[in-house]
Amino acid sequence: MKSSFFTTIVVIITILLSFEALITDALVPNRPSKPRPPSKPSPPFKPSPPSKPSLPSKPSLPSKSSNSANTQCLGSCNKSRVKANGTQIKTGFCSSLIQGQIPSNLKMVSTLILNPTGDELIKANKPFNIKIKVNNLQTGFFSDPNTNYYTSPQELDDDGLVKGHSHVVIQKLTNNNNPPDPNLFAFFKGLNDEASVGVLSTTVAPGLSRGTYRLCTMSSSFSHQPVLMPVAQRGSADDCVRFKVV
Ligand SMILES: *[C@@H]1O[C@H](CO)[C@@H](O)[C@H](O)[C@H]1NC(C)=O
Ligand SMILES: *[C@@H]1O[C@H](CO)[C@@H](O)[C@H](O)[C@H]1NC(C)=O
Repeated sequence: MKSSFFTTIVVIITILLSFEALITDALVPNRPSKPRPPSKPSPPFKPSPPSKPSLPSKPSLPSKSSNSANTQCLGSCNKSRVKANGTQIKTGFCSSLIQGQIPSNLKMVSTLILNPTGDELIKANKPFNIKIKVNNLQTGFFSDPNTNYYTSPQELDDDGLVKGHSHVVIQKLTNNNNPPDPNLFAFFKGLNDEASVGVLSTTVAPGLSRGTYRLCTMSSSFSHQPVLMPVAQRGSADDCVRFKVV
């Protein structure tokens, strides 16, 4: 009985002493400074720094390189008197727009003209449909070409697809040995809507006169520049088909 009583007393005193030690530690400024550093807020701070520094350090590098890229781009326009201003300046201009987000090689834009096929003859002066299928283009993104032409770097959506739109253009081929004049076309249409199951379509009305024609697609980013791909050796992003109207 006695010994257990004393044991209890000893335990209580020990507890009280350790409390006192804790309180002293808390009150004496010099002591806490030592024990605290290790257990200090440094752990709470450290966890966030490791994750943060890696992020800031990344942006800081791209921002540096993009700055130098911007400087280069701006420098490349030093000699040009006409700078891009979002309008379509027919006499030419200099753009210092950066290229933006380029998709992976698994998400490169690829187009097939479904109609006309080029095999059938099209009747003169009769409306017909153009139907194209585009892979890996998030369609429906289209800036105002009168005020926002070549003003935005290429952008990808959350799935890594280029955000943009396509166009179709038909030119009459009058000379088999000479490329057609790009200023001349028989039909042009921006396909600004969102594709339905990857398919975009439009109607050529009231049709075309007799002759040989070339229909081409032109896929573009949001602000109309041609889509940019990650590798040079690849299939074309666009398609063309030649057909006869009789
Ligand atoms: C373009 O002009 C800027 C500012 O005037 C200058 O710092 C830069 O070196 C020039 N770049 C080129 C390529 O001439
Ligand atoms: C854009 O630049 C062209 C060529 O310098 C000029 O004719 C046109 O008025 C400018 N447009 C705007 C909106 O700044």
